[in-house]
Amino acid sequence: MKIGIPAESRQGETRVAATPETVKKLVAAKHQVVVQSGAGVSASVTDDAYVAAGATIGGAADAFGAEMVLKVRAPSAEERTLMKSGAVVVGMLNPFDAENTAAMAAHGLTAFALEAAPRISRAQSLDVLSSQANIAGYKAVMLAANTYQRFMPMLMTAAGTVKAARVLIMGVGVAGLQAIATAKRLGAVIEASDVRPPVKEQVESLGAKFIDVPFETDEEREIAKGSGGYARPMPEAWMKRQAALVHERAKQADIIITTALIPGRKAPTLISEETVKAMKPGSVIVDMAVEQGGNCPLSELGKTVTKYGVHIIGEANLPALVAADASALYSRNLLDFMKLIVDKDGALAINREDEIVAATMLCSGGEVLRK
Ligand code: NAI
Repeated sequence: MKIGIPAESRQGETRVAATPETVKKLVAAKHQVVVQSGAGVSASVTDDAYVAAGATIGGAADAFGAEMVLKVRAPSAEERTLMKSGAVVVGMLNPFDAENTAAMAAHGLTAFALEAAPRISRAQSLDVLSSQANIAGYKAVMLAANTYQRFMPMLMTAAGTVKAARVLIMGVGVAGLQAIATAKRLGAVIEASDVRPPVKEQVESLGAKFIDVPFETDEEREIAKGSGGYARPMPEAWMKRQAALVHERAKQADIIITTALIPGRKAPTLISEETVKAMKPGSVIVDMAVEQGGNCPLSELGKTVTKYGVHIIGEANLPALVAADASALYSRNLLDFMKLIVDKDGALAINREDEIVAATMLCSGGEVLRK
């Protein structure tokens, strides 16, 4: 099959959907791979490296004109026009963007959005949210450390002792766990909060302290379990109690990293303006939920702003700042997913009965399958 790897055109998107490592495997599986010239440049992959791996280099029309197109982000309207009706596109296509899904369906594309894969063990190796959130959690700590005007570790020097930074992590999924692990390696003292009860043990096993917001009703306990591994919006009373506790902890914190998301909804507000006001000057907040509306109402998409003396980082696409490794992990996710839709002879064989295929398939044959 002819597989196309276009350059990503979305602003700030530095990742690429294949690396020489995955191209080599695709070619070994008898596919023809055409990479758009320059597609890997922002992820430090040259055209020559793709050629050495067995790909051919072409223009946008060649890459988008393939039978299967591997993407990071959804193709733009202009890019869609380069694609053949009946072609397959796989990427982080945003399953909640109904307009985009309808447009892809109207163009006759068969589209798979990997963010929609279920959280089951079999899907772990193709879980793009995990592979990218892991990187984002790491980079969030790096950015915070870079902006913070003090040391992270406790230091005893001839000129006196420096206290360790206190880091507060809000939302401990994949990104939050990596943020804890990274801040720990740098020597910070860490506290963390999440709605889901099993997180407490994970937080403690990484050497951080869990901020317990006790449940007062069965309803709270039930909602906190989440669904399919994801959180659900918590009742207002619980959110208020959490906010009060967080307000107190935030006053002590030097760095806050917020990662809390609820799929398909606006991110919950966890750090209010009042809480930012109460924080120490020079503190840093990294709002990793900024693209989903933010966990802090003062954060601004794509910007670092200083409010009440607190630096608030609203970087939209953290994995894109670690483009080489983010692309390496992402392209392995894609390769793993392809096993579900391509047979041993390299021909398209979409098994719609497969739970992962069914969950990720947005549209096919002009029909929208996931509303
Ligand atoms: P996410 O990115 O959807 O959300 C981040 C975190 O924010 C979650 O831990 C969530 O509980 C938390 N959160 C939401 N609302 C909150 C609030 N009001 N206050 C505090 N925290 C709040 O989550 P992510 O990283 O995608 O992981 C969710 C779960 O799925 C994790 O338990 C993870 O281990 C599991 N998982 C399972 C996989 C599999 O089996 N294939 C793969 C990846 C993750």
